[in-house]
Amino acid sequence: MSASLTEAAAFLHTLADGLGTPLNVVTPDQIAENAARFEAVLRRHRLGGGVFFAHKASASSALLRRLAATPSSVDVASLEELQHALACGFTPDRITATGPKDPAFRYLGARVGVTFHVDGQSELEALAGLVRDHGLAPVRVLLRLSGFPSAGVRRLVRRSRFGTPVADLPGLLDAVERCGDAVELLGVGYHLDTVSLDEKALALEGCVKAMDACRARGLRPRVVDIGGGFGVSYLAEAGQWEAYTTELIRAVLATRPPLAWGNHGYGLRNESGTLAGGLGLYPAYREVAGPAYLDELLAMRAPSLGRPLATLLLENLYDLRVEPGRALADQCGVTLARVLETRRDTEGGAGLWSVRLDLNAGDCPLEDHGILVDPLIVPRPRPDSGPGAGGRGTEEPRAGGPVAVHLYGNLCLESDLLTKRQVFLPRLPDPGDLLCFVNTAAYCMDFGAHEAERRPRARKVAATRAAGERDGAWRWCLDTQYWPLAVEAVAHHAGTNRQEEASA
Ligand SMILES: Cc1ncc(COP(=O)(O)O)c(C=O)c1O
Repeated sequence: MSASLTEAAAFLHTLADGLGTPLNVVTPDQIAENAARFEAVLRRHRLGGGVFFAHKASASSALLRRLAATPSSVDVASLEELQHALACGFTPDRITATGPKDPAFRYLGARVGVTFHVDGQSELEALAGLVRDHGLAPVRVLLRLSGFPSAGVRRLVRRSRFGTPVADLPGLLDAVERCGDAVELLGVGYHLDTVSLDEKALALEGCVKAMDACRARGLRPRVVDIGGGFGVSYLAEAGQWEAYTTELIRAVLATRPPLAWGNHGYGLRNESGTLAGGLGLYPAYREVAGPAYLDELLAMRAPSLGRPLATLLLENLYDLRVEPGRALADQCGVTLARVLETRRDTEGGAGLWSVRLDLNAGDCPLEDHGILVDPLIVPRPRPDSGPGAGGRGTEEPRAGGPVAVHLYGNLCLESDLLTKRQVFLPRLPDPGDLLCFVNTAAYCMDFGAHEAERRPRARKVAATRAAGERDGAWRWCLDTQYWPLAVEAVAHHAGTNRQEEASA
């Protein structure tokens, strides 16, 4: 989806001319496709349950409204996300509340009847107190667990500051029983911040055992929630990632020119000619990511019980819930920035070119979110080149060969680099061209945005094509004005909502 969007040069320039840059463009139909792929994995393993989008990954209304029109659900982490999910069309039975919760978040969630993923005993008791004080219906809860022990060969399981250690489950279940008038135990779950399938398999098996412990007490849990963390592969070829990391090591060891600002090593160090430290980068290439990662996890044998994890769930008729954030927003958006100026770096950049952009590192914190993909140049179409089919520019490639550049933001700060990496472009861009940062919808376009120097945050628009028109022209509306309706109906709505337009 994003690939054909990035080819629509005239369309992207029209948007950037009208709305300025930085500009975020989201593609709501893509999130529906991604959700369907996750749902298909559950069905292939004949599991009930569902997909709960981790809303924190994107603030977009268009993505959430499009998702509300699919069978998928949503996982919210704040009062504001809960209000947004309700306003986008999710009914409370399709909403789970996770993470640290303040009283207002808890109150609204309990009042409308969402499911709560509770961190521990004190949260459970606070929730029960709220239900009793306000005479609410009992709330459904999932117990978030952590610290899953491994039998036999010890596996390293990352510590989490969230959830209740499995060792403390008996005390937590005592509390569930004491609060039986106010909470209904739906099941247990985890969210682990790791790419390791082994760690996830251990945790999933641990959850099945915890469900047994619940049932042994006469409780009737039926859901296991395995959180998110299915990942995205940002590169198409493993070789690209291997070549980059090999060259980065050589740069750190000074056997080739630097590949990053100040020969930054991303955790790698040169200690008297020996490589030290560890590479602290999200793997840009993932052999197995997204729905395929879920598929592989479910097919894995449980570390101590020995049977496939999906079979264990199926035998017990447990539903499985997943909470992908990054993986559901894969290919759901791009960030555009206008090139303001190019010039030769003299000092820190070691004679490279520097490209100054009309956005800053907060608008697009690539490295914080593991995006190590070089941006695309979207050339400004020449006056004589029409929009062409599908809004494509008819720009001829310009002169000049590939260049290594540093990308600078628009803030008056030495540290405002879009990425410390040298970025390799097929040619030096011209002022007025756009750089298109791809696959930024998950976290990148929303998590770090600020208004330093009173610069406005990026606007966000939703780009769509009419159903069945894969090669047709792109259409757009402001993110806040998108609804999954026929284009004419959206246009009517947009026309009646001037106030939103003015404030976007
Ligand atoms: C509880 C919970 N669920 C789901 C997610 C989504 O994780 P990801 O975006 O890696 O899929 C997070 C991310 O922090 C989380 O904390």
